Amino acid sequence: MTGRVEHKIAIVTGAGSVGPGWGNGKASAVLYAREGAKVFAADLVLEAAEETRSIIDQEGGACTAYQADVSDADAVCGLVDACLNTYGRIDILHNNVGIPEVGGPEEISEANWDRLFDINVKSMYLTGRARLPHNVFCADIKHNLEKEIIENIAHDKNWTGGHPRMF
Ligand SMILES: NC(=O)c1ccc[n+]([C@@H]2O[C@H](COP(=O)([O-])OP(=O)(O)OC[C@H]3O[C@@H](n4cnc5c(N)ncnc54)[C@H](O)[C@@H]3O)[C@@H](O)[C@H]2O)c1
Repeated sequence: MTGRVEHKIAIVTGAGSVGPGWGNGKASAVLYAREGAKVFAADLVLEAAEETRSIIDQEGGACTAYQADVSDADAVCGLVDACLNTYGRIDILHNNVGIPEVGGPEEISEANWDRLFDINVKSMYLTGRARLPHNVFCADIKHNLEKEIIENIAHDKNWTGGHPRMF
């Protein structure tokens, strides 16, 4: 490994995996750690984040597992606050979370459409907003971030259900 993100602090959302083996979030978190970053691994399912932390631990890297729903504004504020309390800053925000919803307008209910956008799209707004310098959206966070990298990973097919007639 080449230490490309040596000493950086990386939040990875959806850092676990829904199934056995490797998902994008788990693989990204482990790769950040292999490249020298300290990883703040957030997931809706704590056990999934813990599994990723365990892999990183076994490889000698640094990782903290944290439970949060990234579609929930308060939970996202808590996530950013917890990362800052643990590691002092955030250099990389890797918005990995994305869920699929199969079907076209006839099949996808309005409630599921809203849920899809809350998880796949609003989550990027919430995480981006929560780590803004001079944050006024999260009461407890007092920090001033200077420079960071934001990666938004969720697949565009997740927004449309992959259906050719959705837009
Ligand atoms: N895995 C692939 O082969 C693949 C290929 C192309 C694109 N993608 C896209 O990459 C993104 C992530 O893929 P993945 O493989 O990491 O997915 P995954 O389905 O394995 O999910 C990763 C984690 O996200 C967590 N999660 C789900 N909803 C959450 C929420 N509201 N808050 C916090 N965590 C939540 C899950 O608990 C899970 O542990 C998705 O948008 C997916 O469509 C994946």
